[in-house]
Amino acid sequence: MASARGSLTKDGIRIYESSDFSGMAEAGRVAATILDDIVPHIKVGVGTGEIDLIITDMVNAHGAKSATIGYRGYKHASCISVNHVVCHGVPGDKRIKDGDILNIDVTVIVDGWFGDTSRMYAVGKLPRKSERLIQVTHDALFKGIEAVKPGNFFGDIGYAIQSFVEGHRMSVVRDFCGHGLGQVFHAPPNVLHYGDVGTGPVLEEGMFFTIEPMVNLGRPETKVLDDDWTAVTRDRTLSAQFEHSVGVTATGVEIFTLSPAGRFHPTYN
Ligand code: MF3
Ligand code: CO
Ligand code: CO
Repeated sequence: MASARGSLTKDGIRIYESSDFSGMAEAGRVAATILDDIVPHIKVGVGTGEIDLIITDMVNAHGAKSATIGYRGYKHASCISVNHVVCHGVPGDKRIKDGDILNIDVTVIVDGWFGDTSRMYAVGKLPRKSERLIQVTHDALFKGIEAVKPGNFFGDIGYAIQSFVEGHRMSVVRDFCGHGLGQVFHAPPNVLHYGDVGTGPVLEEGMFFTIEPMVNLGRPETKVLDDDWTAVTRDRTLSAQFEHSVGVTATGVEIFTLSPAGRFHPTYN
């Protein structure tokens, strides 16, 4: 068990050391590589449980550990959230059909460091509104990332995301948020994807956290199904999500979960 590093801010946010960035970069690279390597497996007719088993094998092949298997009773190496599922979709018998959009979210532990990332996949010909949803959600994540630098506020990240999304007449989910991470999966702060400039904790060099906006075509409200995990849009409209794990550097941000293959954004084919 590695010892806890660095110090805590008054908001309980851990400040990591500059030598800790390489551990996060390696964990992030493994998680992102798995999301790259799953691309050819996302086809019409494939079951979400099958996708998850392939991901489980990939995690093992990297010598990594799944952070989600055994987490609060969760049993899978990924969350797979199809169409109106907002997040925490549980892999199972469901099969992917033409025109579906899906988010796959993977968190791995490498040498004690957590890499957490998710992105959207699509099969077949998408309706224009699905393409727009994916594009806006992707760009919203990067609007948030652009707000990451020492001296800015966490509310600046939320504001950047919310104003961009609502400017496109879509809505930001309030019921789930990003989170601090590092040598733990979920730590302070809650990284809200909505908010006001100049509010919340101040960003400091050495903070590690995720930004993972969920965007709905309809209203923002969600509900959790009887499996106690799967969150869906209450109005059954489509939902999308992208997630990166990032660190605050002296001058800005390092994204730990960039796609080594340059495949973070889905291609619509
Ligand atoms: N990876 C998710 C996140 O972004 C958490 C999944 S927890 C699970 O925070 F148990 F549902 F896998
Ligand atoms: Co996360
Ligand atoms: Co995640």
